[in-house]
Order: sequence, then structure tokens, then C-alpha cells
Amino acid sequence: MSSNSTLSVDNKAVELPVMEGTIGPSVIDISKLYAQTGMFTYDPGFTSTAATEAKITYIDGDKGILLYRGYPIDQLAEHGDFLETCYLLLYGELPTAAQKADFDYRVTRHTMVHDQMNRLFTGFRRDAHPMAIMVACVGALSAFYHDSTDISDPHQRMIASMRMIAKMPTLAAMAYKYSIGQPFVYPQNDLDYTSNFLRMCFAVPAEEYKVNPVLARALDRIFILHADHEQNASTSTVRLAGSSGANPFACIAAGIACLWGPAHGGANEAALKMLEEIGTPDRIPEYIAKAKDKNDPFRLMGFGHRVYKNYDPRARIMQKTTHEVLNELGIKDDPLLDVAMELEQIALKDEYFIEKKLYPNIDFYSGITLKAMGFPTSMFTVLFALARTVGWIAQWSEMIEDPSQRIGRPRQLYTGAPQRPYILEARRG
Ligand code: CMC
Repeated sequence: MSSNSTLSVDNKAVELPVMEGTIGPSVIDISKLYAQTGMFTYDPGFTSTAATEAKITYIDGDKGILLYRGYPIDQLAEHGDFLETCYLLLYGELPTAAQKADFDYRVTRHTMVHDQMNRLFTGFRRDAHPMAIMVACVGALSAFYHDSTDISDPHQRMIASMRMIAKMPTLAAMAYKYSIGQPFVYPQNDLDYTSNFLRMCFAVPAEEYKVNPVLARALDRIFILHADHEQNASTSTVRLAGSSGANPFACIAAGIACLWGPAHGGANEAALKMLEEIGTPDRIPEYIAKAKDKNDPFRLMGFGHRVYKNYDPRARIMQKTTHEVLNELGIKDDPLLDVAMELEQIALKDEYFIEKKLYPNIDFYSGITLKAMGFPTSMFTVLFALARTVGWIAQWSEMIEDPSQRIGRPRQLYTGAPQRPYILEARRG
């Protein structure tokens, strides 16, 4: 059902269509507002702006709900695997057994990277941040796979998508191996996606490596939790980059660059560093006070979310996964976990956090889990990027396939100097 809303601008009534989604808030279509009024809307940070119509992921931040193609995240994480989630995000439906087997096979066939990429790696310093390497290497895929950069060809788009989903674990593991001075481990395609990734990260040629199925399952679940998250900063970056017709590898590299920031994907690294800095539960009140102090820029990392004003549904599953991993590894008393659990309890009862609806987000527990598995903090955001790649691709594909798609071009409220004549250098100052 469509309706209209009326906006009064300079005493003139402007009729604006209201568009309704299947669930969630309706939106006011302002696309003709400038033509009708000569005015733009102003919404820095896009807190009230739907930048696109989308059918992939739905979040109800007040209720703490996250759906991929309509399916609740907890059910997907409980019953499915990551490649099933990839299929769902890309194609809109859960696969049949035959479709799943075919998809797994197609992804697996692309796990190797062009051998020349090894040389690209050796150009980096060993202490380079692996996210810097990922931005460069994923962007560089467009220099290696010319046969899948024509975005007007659906087949090439599909191959590029498969390549990125398949090669991200290989590149991520290579970035890690390079940083610790160990040889690259090639993919082994009889392993499942996540087991293969663990092996590429932790196996060495000198020894037999056996994948721990509990850890593989836990990491696979972490990938599911991170696979997509609606129009967040990195996804919007991918869409904006893609709106100009840039090739898919370049677009995903742009998404990785955006994800790196500590307010977005970098928060899991920042959260773990914060827990380490707090060190013991008795120091928590000091940090809570810092977080509440308006004059102190410190924020409790892993708390708060632009959209969730309730417990992040991913954080619940993440907390359970953390316990499973620590149990499996026989880590009985982890001081970081003690600090995290105590901090969570204190913050959830604190008036400041209650009033601002600041709840733990997914990053609060993921760092502890990844650290226990053996990943260094610098790899945390890389793992996030690996998992989010499918979400970025699904959103990018949706945009490219939308016949009404146009280049994204936000406008501005200009507050700089008005027009003025050029001043010759001799007359300045
Ligand atoms: N600790 C202390 N105060 C906070 C925090 C925090 N973590 N987060 C928000 N606030 C306060 C903030 O100071 C502000 O107070 P006031 O209204 O008095 O000025 C109020 O809450 C609203 O904050 P905001 O910055 O306007 O909210 P936002 O929606 O722009 O920011 C956020 C969302 C996630 C960037 C922010 O909560 C934050 O910086 N959290 C810590 C970083 C973090 O954990 N990020 C991971 C996000 S989840 C992973 C992902 O999806 O990428």
C-alpha cells in the first residue's frame, strides 16, 4: 500500500511518496525534493537515511533481531555452515543438498591464488599490518583475473564472486604466514572451507596438522555471524564504489579499507587490547568512569552500536562460542574472560549505559575467542573481512542487477568561503 506524506517548505506543501518495506520502518521518498524545493536534506552519518532498497539482510535494532534473507541469525548459526549462509545471501534461498554440494565444489575450485601473487607478498615489510596487505592484495586480484572484471557480463560477475569468497581465506592465511616468517601453506580442497583456512594458518610443512573440529565449527559460526549486516559503513562503501562501475575486486578492496577503522571492524582488536589494558576486574570501575567522562575520549570498545539499541543478537551466540572454545582448549581461568564477564555485568547495570542503550556488541567476545584459537590481534579484522566478503558481494550484485541503479553522489551543505576574486601573491598577507 502506498501513501504520501506532506512537507511544508516556505509555506508551500510538498507531497512526498511513502514507500513500505516487508518489515521495518517505511521511508519517505525524497528523490524529487531538490527538483520540487531547491533544497537538499541534511543527515550526516545517515542516521535517518535509507540509501537503497535491499532484500538481503534485516536488522531490528530495538528488538535485537538480525535476519539473513528472512532467517534468524541464531538458527543459521545453530544448524547451517558458512557456505550455506554464503549461498543464502547470494541467491536468496537456502540450498537443496545438490545445490549446496555444487556450490561447495565451485567455491573450492577457486581456492588457489595466481602463483605470481607470492611475489606481491614479498614486496611488503614483514611487520606490515595484515589489513594493509589485504587491501592491496584484494585490489590486486583485478590485475590477475582480467577475465572476471567486466561487470556487464553476469557470468564474469559470478566468477569474480566465487573467486573472492574462495580466495579470501588463502590471502588472509598468506598475510598471516608472511608476518610470522613461515612458508605459505597451499589450500587442501578435501577440507571444508573453514578447516582449510585453519590449516593454511596453522600448519607447517615440517609437521602433520590435524584440524580440531570444535575450533573449526566455532570459527565457521563466527564467519556466519559476520557474513552481512545491512548497509553498514563498509557495505555502503562497496555499494558506492560499485555505483561508478568499478570492478568487483576494487570494490571489495574499498570495503576492506573501510572495515579497518576502529569504530567498525577494527573494534574487535581494540576491544581485546582494552581488556588486556584493564587486566584485572578490580580496575573496571576506573575504566567505566573514563568511558562516562565527557572530557575523556575513551570509549568502552565492544559496547554500543549505531543500530542495535538492545543486546546484539550476534553477541549472545558469540559469548556461547567463546565458552565452547575455551572449554575445548582446556582454558579454565582466562583472566581476559573474567574481566569481560565482570565488565559486561557492571556496564549492563550502570545508569549511563542503560540510558544510552549501550549493550555489548559482537566484538566484545570475538577477540577473546580468536586469541584463544591462536590468532594474533592484528588478524582479527582480517577474519571479519574474510567473512563479510560474501555480504559485500551479495549487496554489490544486488545493486548491479537493479535496473534503476545510478552512480551514488551525495550532496552537501556548503559552509566554506563564498565566491571571491583571486589575490595575487604579492598582495597577500
Ligand atoms: N562507550 C562509552 N560511551 C559510548 C560508547 C561506548 N562504547 N558508545 C557510544 N557512547 C556514547 C557516546 O559518547 C554518546 O554520548 P552522548 O550522547 O552523551 O554524546 C552516545 O553514547 C551515542 O554515541 P554515538 O557515538 O553518537 O553513537 P554512534 O551510533 O555514532 O556510534 C559506535 C556507534 C559503535 C561507533 C559507538 O557505540 C562506539 O564507538 N562503540 C565502540 C566501538 C565498537 O565497539 N564498535 C563496534 C561496532 S559493532 C561491529 C560492526 O558492526 O562494525
